[in-house]
Amino acid sequence: MSEKDHRVSRRQFLNYTLTGVGGFMAAGMLMPMVRFAVDPVLRKGAEQDLVAVAQVDDITNEPKRIDFKIQQVDAWYESEEPRSAWVYKNEKGDIVALSPICKHLGCTVNWAGDKAHPNRFYCPCHGGLYEKNGKNVPGTPPMGPLDGYVQKVKDGTLYLGKAKPRGGA
Ligand code: FES
Repeated sequence: MSEKDHRVSRRQFLNYTLTGVGGFMAAGMLMPMVRFAVDPVLRKGAEQDLVAVAQVDDITNEPKRIDFKIQQVDAWYESEEPRSAWVYKNEKGDIVALSPICKHLGCTVNWAGDKAHPNRFYCPCHGGLYEKNGKNVPGTPPMGPLDGYVQKVKDGTLYLGKAKPRGGA
């Protein structure tokens, strides 16, 4: 191959240069737009970590229903989601915060909702029963214990986060 074959004409040089510069400029403009469009999807569904729900001194041994709201961010969509918890202090003085969502088919359980079982959580949909600690009563429809809320106490205030499964029967 002669040296002449390797020579680049002025026109070719300008074409290569302009194509390269144009490509960089286009990438520089497109990358922020692509990132803006895709970033919320890549982010994990963020949920507000912990919400102040009650003063610890107001919590007794009797389960009380506390309603609260959490900020939920799902990609581009932000919303306020209502939540509820059954909250009480156990015999050791530890705070217990249980989800009211029945583990059978998702109805809402109530503390002492059935006169025949005054010290249990009762689900009116199919007669599900749970002990005070949230454990499902064998022989009733639920196959697992009520979920427990992630919790934190700071400066005398109870904060709740997500309700998480606690395993069990
Ligand atoms: S949904 Fe609660 S017992 Fe069926």
